[in-house]
Amino acid sequence: MMHKVLIDCDPGHDDATAILYAARHLDLVGVTTVYGNQSVDKTTANALSILTLLGLDIPVARGCDRPLNGIFRHGGDVHGKTGIDGAELPAPARGPVDAHAVDFIIDTAKQHRGELVLCPIGPFTNVALALRKEPQLARWLRGISVMGGTTQIGNTTPVAEFNVWSDPEAADIVFRSDIPLWMVGLNVTRKVGLCEQDVARLSEGGRVARVFGGLFGFFRNQLREIHGLDTASLHDPCALVPFIAPDLITYRQAPVEIELGQGPARGMTVCDFRNLTTRKLENIKPRAPANCSVAVEVEDRALVEHILAAILGWPDHAPAAAAVPSPV
Ligand code: BDR
Ligand code: CA
Repeated sequence: MMHKVLIDCDPGHDDATAILYAARHLDLVGVTTVYGNQSVDKTTANALSILTLLGLDIPVARGCDRPLNGIFRHGGDVHGKTGIDGAELPAPARGPVDAHAVDFIIDTAKQHRGELVLCPIGPFTNVALALRKEPQLARWLRGISVMGGTTQIGNTTPVAEFNVWSDPEAADIVFRSDIPLWMVGLNVTRKVGLCEQDVARLSEGGRVARVFGGLFGFFRNQLREIHGLDTASLHDPCALVPFIAPDLITYRQAPVEIELGQGPARGMTVCDFRNLTTRKLENIKPRAPANCSVAVEVEDRALVEHILAAILGWPDHAPAAAAVPSPV
C-alpha cells in the first residue's frame, strides 16, 4: 500500500532530498514550509524551486516565520545564505497556495482521514499550531514521523538537535499528542551520510542528480568545517523510512519528553531506555508511558544507496525552468 504523506519542511539540502525520496516512493500530497534553515520566505521559495526542478505539481503552503515563543535564531547557517547553497535551482514555476500551512495541514488530514502520515522535518511550529487549532487532527492522522531530537549528543547544543531546539514548546505539543509517533534523531541520521565518492557519483549523473551533487558538495564542506564530519548527513529523508523501507531502521518504544527549561538542556529529547525490572520503586519509575518509536539503529550504507538510487534514477525529462515565462 502506498502511504499518503505530507512533508512539513525548511529546505534545506536534506529537506530537498526528502521531497524527492517521498515523491519517488510514496503519495506525496502536499508540502508545508516553516522557518528554520533559513527564513520562511527562503524555505518556501526553495521548496517551490525543488518541485519545479523535479517536474512535480504538488501544492506548497507557506507556514510560520518564528517559533511559539517568538524568538527566531538560525542554527549557524549550515545550509548557506539561501538555505540551500551549492547549485543553481530553477525559478519556481508556480507560487504557494492561498492557505496557511496550519490550515493546509488540518484540511489535508481531514480529507485523507486515517490515511495521512505527517513528516515534520523542520521546527515543529506549524504542526503544534495545527494540533492546537483543530482538536480532531490527532484522530485524523495515521501517524507523525519526525526528523528531530537525539538519544546522544546534539548539533545545536551539546544535547539538543536543531529542529527540536528551534521550538521546544512546539515539539512538546507534538510529543504529548498521543498520535502514533516515530522519532528519527541525530543518533541515527548522522550515520546516513554521503562521502566524497557518493557526491562525485551524483555530479556525474543526469540533470537532476548533478544539481544534488552541487548541493551536497557544499553541504559536506559545511558539515566538515562546522561539525568536523566526514560525510554530508541525509537527516530528513530518514523520517520517511518507516513507510518506504521499514527494515532499514530499528526502533525502540520509549517515553520521550522535551526539556523546556531555559538552562543548558533546553530542547533535549529525554528518552527513557532504562530496563527497569521492578515497578515497585516509586521514585525511579518512568514518568510516563511510552509515547514514541525511537530510531536506535540503521543499516546506514543500504539506506544511503537507496536514497542515491532515487536521486540518480530521477527522470531527466521532467520540465524544469523552461516552464517559467522569461521576463521581457
Ligand atoms: C535538521 O536540521 C536541519 O539542519 C536539517 O534540515 C535537519 O532537518 C538536522 O538537525
Ligand atoms: Ca530540515
